[in-house]
Amino acid sequence: MTHKLTPLIAGNWKMNGLVNELSQIETLCDALENQTTPECDVLICPPVTLLSQMSAMCSEVLTGAQDCHVGSSGAHTGDISAQMLSDAGASYIIVGHSERRADHHETDALVSAKAKSALNAGLVPIICVGETHAERLGALAIPVVEQQLNGSVPDLEGRQVIVIAYEPVWAIGTGLVPDENNIKTMHAAIRDWLINRFGDNGIAVRILYGGSLKPSNAKEILAIPHVNGGLIGGASLKADDLLGIINTIGA
Ligand code: PGA
Repeated sequence: MTHKLTPLIAGNWKMNGLVNELSQIETLCDALENQTTPECDVLICPPVTLLSQMSAMCSEVLTGAQDCHVGSSGAHTGDISAQMLSDAGASYIIVGHSERRADHHETDALVSAKAKSALNAGLVPIICVGETHAERLGALAIPVVEQQLNGSVPDLEGRQVIVIAYEPVWAIGTGLVPDENNIKTMHAAIRDWLINRFGDNGIAVRILYGGSLKPSNAKEILAIPHVNGGLIGGASLKADDLLGIINTIGA
């Protein structure tokens, strides 16, 4: 079963970007305002230092955060709550990115709690999952991702919306991408998992592919069934690269 969902093109700037790089967003805003770009939602998750400035730049570019604390306020030096991120203009938040799972030892349970906290603050969590290269080689990719989904996706109430990002760890920032068949099989498995968990509501959850997505491979990848957009690191830092990806949609 496939369902037409508006693609989400989400940029993850990671720990990159100073104030002068906001010129890239100006270029992006101009292009999205003036050109006939394909129908899609465009989101940039900058470092938190740029969030409020970027959020005020144009309505065509949504903004999001890259992490949050599980609590809503309190004595947690250096941490930022989902509510504060929403206050700064974020509408989405990435949780459970593999870099946070690896660098900060984030567990599925913590990722689920962060996603819940984001939902409570009115944000849409983009919950990241993905296997390592050893797990892929050991034919464990699907069970590993299903286990991450079991632990990282919280229960939903009412009309709460989530996004899932499938990002094979070995494809992030390496220039390597899984072959089309592997992406197709994984995204279909994630769709099945969502329908098992959420019934018909699972049909409307967008599933992004992430990992070395760029203008030259976006057309093929974004056309795969149940790939409802992309989570893009390196190629989201330059407006022209991101526009190159956006313009492959439906081309
Ligand atoms: P990449 O990063 O596009 O640079 O591979 C993707 C991500 O980590 O979200």
